[in-house]
Amino acid sequence: MAIFGKPPAFAEKLHVGRPNIGNRERLLARINDMLNRNWLTNDGPYVQEFEKQMAKFVGVRHCVAMCNGTVALEIAIRALGLNGEVIVPSFTFVATAHALQWQEITPVFCDIDPLTHTIDTAQLEKMITPRTTGIIGVHTWGRACNVAALEAIARRRNLQILFDAAHAFGCSYKGKTIGGFGRCEVFSFHATKFFNTFEGGAVLTNDDALAEKMRLMRNFGFHGYDNVVYIGTNGKMTEVCAAMGLTSLESVEEFVETNRRNFRAYRRELDGIPGVTLMAYDESERANYQYIVVEVDEQTAGLGRDELVRVLVAENVLARRYFFPGCHRMEPYRSYFPHAALILPETEKLCGRVMVLPNGTSVDERAISVIGQVMRTAVSNAAAVRARLTGSESSLPAQSGIATRSTIG
Ligand SMILES: Cc1ncc(COP(=O)(O)O)c(C=O)c1O
Repeated sequence: MAIFGKPPAFAEKLHVGRPNIGNRERLLARINDMLNRNWLTNDGPYVQEFEKQMAKFVGVRHCVAMCNGTVALEIAIRALGLNGEVIVPSFTFVATAHALQWQEITPVFCDIDPLTHTIDTAQLEKMITPRTTGIIGVHTWGRACNVAALEAIARRRNLQILFDAAHAFGCSYKGKTIGGFGRCEVFSFHATKFFNTFEGGAVLTNDDALAEKMRLMRNFGFHGYDNVVYIGTNGKMTEVCAAMGLTSLESVEEFVETNRRNFRAYRRELDGIPGVTLMAYDESERANYQYIVVEVDEQTAGLGRDELVRVLVAENVLARRYFFPGCHRMEPYRSYFPHAALILPETEKLCGRVMVLPNGTSVDERAISVIGQVMRTAVSNAAAVRARLTGSESSLPAQSGIATRSTIG
């Protein structure tokens, strides 16, 4: 193993979330057309086409394309009139909380169900106060949260409900494509997502008035030339991003197939490693299989998650901790809610156990077999590995040195 001075198992670094790129010729042809048209942004023909195809793919009335998922969340939150407090899981990418706090709305962190990794609906009900105006469910790893229970709570308690579906493009809940639940759902098409538009995002909704409001908001509130009817921002998707999106859409099945094949290879290769559990996907639903999520039980494995990550990084496998350390331990939330951890035991536990392994086009079955061997060997020699890691804090890569792209969600 590389931690003992051998050469790393991989000469090149393997990334979590290496971008999937569709047909290059089709993309370049689209970009050429765009340049010839000289129409680069401001609701151009590619954005319009992308929105049409997206709405059709998901099966909703409206897709409002945006410059990224975070701004899409901010606009959705504002268009729904949320204020006061909004309940969110802490086990999510920090953008879910920031999109609220940015508008001086308090994110109230709720714990998760340890089996699904999504918001715990029983605890959620207890967190509703007179200041609560909404709930944001997050379909973590593309596995839907308990939509039916959340929608029922929202109805009963007169709250708005929307979903952060940043992970869930192409996934389903009870057989229905994610994107049409709640008041609206928000996707991210960031380069590290399995389906990307370089940077990008969208809000999908079946609500005509809400869609219209968000279209105004993403374009400074302009309604025609020189006529501003609403407070707005600049959330527009550019033409080149939409060209990438249209090209990605043509390859979406192929991307899913690659992820699914890799997921099955990981399942084979990690099988039976003590204390190492690969998260399953519900085979009766559609999934995009983007996230290869591994939980490490330190007691059984003899090594903790962080130690296994260090072993892998030394081999050039850039495994990542997710969503470490949890939003409630990040600023400004850590200062606002210094005791939040007390009511988030499952989040705390998961943040210490989860790592995500490379998937997509950056790995193939041969690479996965090597990754499996590295993990198996490390766990079989846990005591020696731990001793080596403890004695060499400075000469081995630390977690903080791992990220080549620190913002990965
Ligand atoms: C759960 C979640 N929410 C929100 C975002 C923000 O999306 P973006 O990076 O497109 O702004 C991401 C991803 O980055 C995410 O994973």
